[in-house]
Amino acid sequence: MFTLISKVHPLFFFLILLSLSSSSKASIPEPFFNCISNKFPSDILHEPTNSSYDSVLKSTIHNLRFLNSPKPLAIITPFLYSHVQAAVICTKRVGLQLRIRSGGSDYEGLSYRSEVPFVLLDLQNLRSINVDIEDNSAWVESGATIGELYYEIAEKSPVHGFPAGVYATVGVGGHFSGGGFGTMMRKHGLASDNIINAKIVDVRGRILDRKSMGEDLFWAIRGGGGASFGVIVAWKVKLVHVPPMVTVFDLSKTFEEEALQLLNKWQYIIEHKLPEDLFLAVSIMAIPLPNGNKTLMAGFTSLFLGNSDHLLKIIEENFPDLGLTKEHCSEMSWIESVMHFSGFPRGELRDSLKNRISPLPRTCISTTSDFIQEPLSLNGLEKLWNICTDEENTPIILLFPHGGIMNKISESETPFPYRKGVIYSIIYEVVWDCTNDESSKEYIDGLRRMKKLMTPYVMKQPRGAFFNTRNLDIGKNGGPDTTYWEAKDWGLKYFKDNFRRLAIIKGEVDLENFFYYEQSIPPLISQDEL
Ligand SMILES: Cc1cc2nc3c(=O)[nH]c(=O)nc-3n(C[C@H](O)[C@H](O)[C@H](O)COP(=O)(O)OP(=O)(O)OC[C@H]3O[C@@H](n4cnc5c(N)ncnc54)[C@H](O)[C@@H]3O)c2cc1C
Ligand SMILES: *[C@@H]1O[C@H](CO)[C@@H](O)[C@H](O)[C@H]1NC(C)=O
Ligand SMILES: *[C@@H]1O[C@H](CO)[C@@H](O)[C@H](O)[C@H]1NC(C)=O
Repeated sequence: MFTLISKVHPLFFFLILLSLSSSSKASIPEPFFNCISNKFPSDILHEPTNSSYDSVLKSTIHNLRFLNSPKPLAIITPFLYSHVQAAVICTKRVGLQLRIRSGGSDYEGLSYRSEVPFVLLDLQNLRSINVDIEDNSAWVESGATIGELYYEIAEKSPVHGFPAGVYATVGVGGHFSGGGFGTMMRKHGLASDNIINAKIVDVRGRILDRKSMGEDLFWAIRGGGGASFGVIVAWKVKLVHVPPMVTVFDLSKTFEEEALQLLNKWQYIIEHKLPEDLFLAVSIMAIPLPNGNKTLMAGFTSLFLGNSDHLLKIIEENFPDLGLTKEHCSEMSWIESVMHFSGFPRGELRDSLKNRISPLPRTCISTTSDFIQEPLSLNGLEKLWNICTDEENTPIILLFPHGGIMNKISESETPFPYRKGVIYSIIYEVVWDCTNDESSKEYIDGLRRMKKLMTPYVMKQPRGAFFNTRNLDIGKNGGPDTTYWEAKDWGLKYFKDNFRRLAIIKGEVDLENFFYYEQSIPPLISQDEL
């Protein structure tokens, strides 16, 4: 989502080169090799002694904070579902933990780091995509990126699209199973709202589809986080119609240009006044001036599923103070808008969407989120504004509009509960050059301060947070024995009452908690509660 910003201010990103520290001391137990020996070829197993180990491990560590975390005993890069089945069966048999990685974008690095000895299952080679325009659907494997999915859809049709996130290198596996906010969310909902089938390898090593896994498990993996329940190897998504031409604009206003007043108005019109076809997000950040002072800037970023004349008319009627003119607007195909939001310059070849390596240099990053049900008072907006100038660490704040169809989907339809009445979400980010580890604490503390300062103004009880902006500050499991009641504290923040249903489903499909991690759903047996 921050590409909405990074594109405006690429200077926030620094090129950092770090080398991996020494590899871990423990080693794979012999029975593991016996178990896998006739189940998959040796060249999909990367041990620390293999020259491929480092490059595979680092290939999708997008957050440099975790470059020196404890490393896996081995990495498995399956080409076939049977390899995934063997990986689950054999790690379970020898009592090792398994971490599942698709795109590696997890903000806390939980897909590739663990405090206990573990094996990393990296799905980067399971990434085929099959688009069926006649059926209005596509099968996409978890190791694909959303950029690859968008590309394949556009290759087949100029009037089909998919409503997922903005940044091309985000992986399908984590993104779909955690929800998936994007620029068409007001019209089509989350990525996870548009999934119609899936294939999962469960704890017993079976491959199940929607029918054989049942509606409960199928419900859970569409927003409840996949890694608590199994390895989802593929998803069937419903394609959506997009017009042959869409319009985008980026318009920045400084404090001196009444940005605060515009922001205030924005809050009142996004939910009901603007049509579902219009996405209008705002990013707020402090811009350093040449004299060393800072000024604030609000960047209004928009995707409209229609032409610019129509867009201008809507803005003129509802938000004239924005001062939008035809010159601000660019008409383009939907796939070009995808590239625009993903930070590619106009004219860049569409093939770039398939680059699995990010065009932006990797940095350290930490993120958290809030949901807003009542427009912030001017006081609250000023607070948000001041945070940006006061903080040394130039945070980036993104206001992501909900409304539209998000208001019409019930809270229990999928695990993501923040639907009706949520006007927008706030995504806070700090990005830093972490060549020296000492600086990290300052930045992370800065993010914590921001969240604390905003407490009076945001949704409470629970203080909501979006699973895909994962942050361990909201709470975590103490270990595989952590109970539902202990985990409720953080679980309710992501899932509200859906947390209980997730825990019951977890109890049904993985009672022994093999698929455990710091924010996995703990198993709950329904009778426990009686
Ligand atoms: C640059 C950037 C831009 C982003 N933009 C957006 C955005 O626009 N909208 C949005 O909603 N989010 C966005 N995100 C957040 C993103 O959606 C989440 O980080 C998501 O979990 C990433 O999925 P992944 O497969 O890349 O991550 P991974 O790190 O591979 O996985 C994330 C989590 O999912 C689990 N998992 C991964 N694959 C599977 C699988 N196949 N089966 C079971 N469990 C699995 C992992 O174990 C881990 O717990 C962005 C993140 C980054 C870094
Ligand atoms: C790693 O090394 C082992 C032993 O030399 C070899 O059998 C295996 O194929 C190597 N793996 C890869 C991915 O090259
Ligand atoms: C920069 O900040 C200083 C201290 O707040 C102030 O005195 C000065 O006028 C500012 N300069 C500009 C150009 O705004």
